[in-house]
Amino acid sequence: MTSQRLVIAIDGPAGSGKSTTAKEVARRLGLGYLDTGAMYRAVTLAVLDSGVAHDDPDAVARVTRDADVAISLDPDDFWVRVGGRDVTGEIRGARVTENASLVSTNPDCRADLVRRQRALMDAAPRGVVAEGRDITTVVYPDADLRVLLTASPEVRLARRRGDVGASVSAEQLRTQVLARDAADSKLVEFQTAADGVRLLDTTDLTLDDVVATIIDLAQEGRP
Ligand code: DC
Repeated sequence: MTSQRLVIAIDGPAGSGKSTTAKEVARRLGLGYLDTGAMYRAVTLAVLDSGVAHDDPDAVARVTRDADVAISLDPDDFWVRVGGRDVTGEIRGARVTENASLVSTNPDCRADLVRRQRALMDAAPRGVVAEGRDITTVVYPDADLRVLLTASPEVRLARRRGDVGASVSAEQLRTQVLARDAADSKLVEFQTAADGVRLLDTTDLTLDDVVATIIDLAQEGRP
């Protein structure tokens, strides 16, 4: 790896703005963009389609290990494929969103996905902005910059409402944001910043403010 590579790790709960932020930072700095949540979602879809019992963690881990997941690292041309089939839209639906903890709370699935994520990040020629729940702590603790984005629950619900539109009920939205964060927190701490991780509360910030702050932090101390 050359010293010119730049790796930025961004974590945060659902609706903290991390996907939009990470994508825009990658675009402006000419880096790759890795949406690790999309990988958890793609594997969740593979598990649901496989028909394995949801209460059989070994079977879920087996499907995970066998899942042929390909993901774009281009912030301007994002896609995800499972077994060669484009699933970019399908993995955002309620069926996958509401079952993602099948995979995210399974330690064997996490270990497999962490390994794949590191390999993808190491292969990005100029570096990468990766976002998720455990990038700053588990996947890439040696990143040049590590940021935890937070926002109030009200703002996170409102942002997710903007993503999903009116098709989802208020109760379903709370399940998809707050209940999912609670389930996902069982194995991974993403609500408080670990040592050396910069905490950025985006509740009252615009996307542009957040992007500019992260770019400033990334450029601090670089030649
Ligand atoms: O960020 P997202 O909503 O697309 O994430 C989808 C699911 O994957 C979510 O339930 C949390 C989980 N996830 C995780 O456990 N670790 C990551 N690094 C990224 C996502």
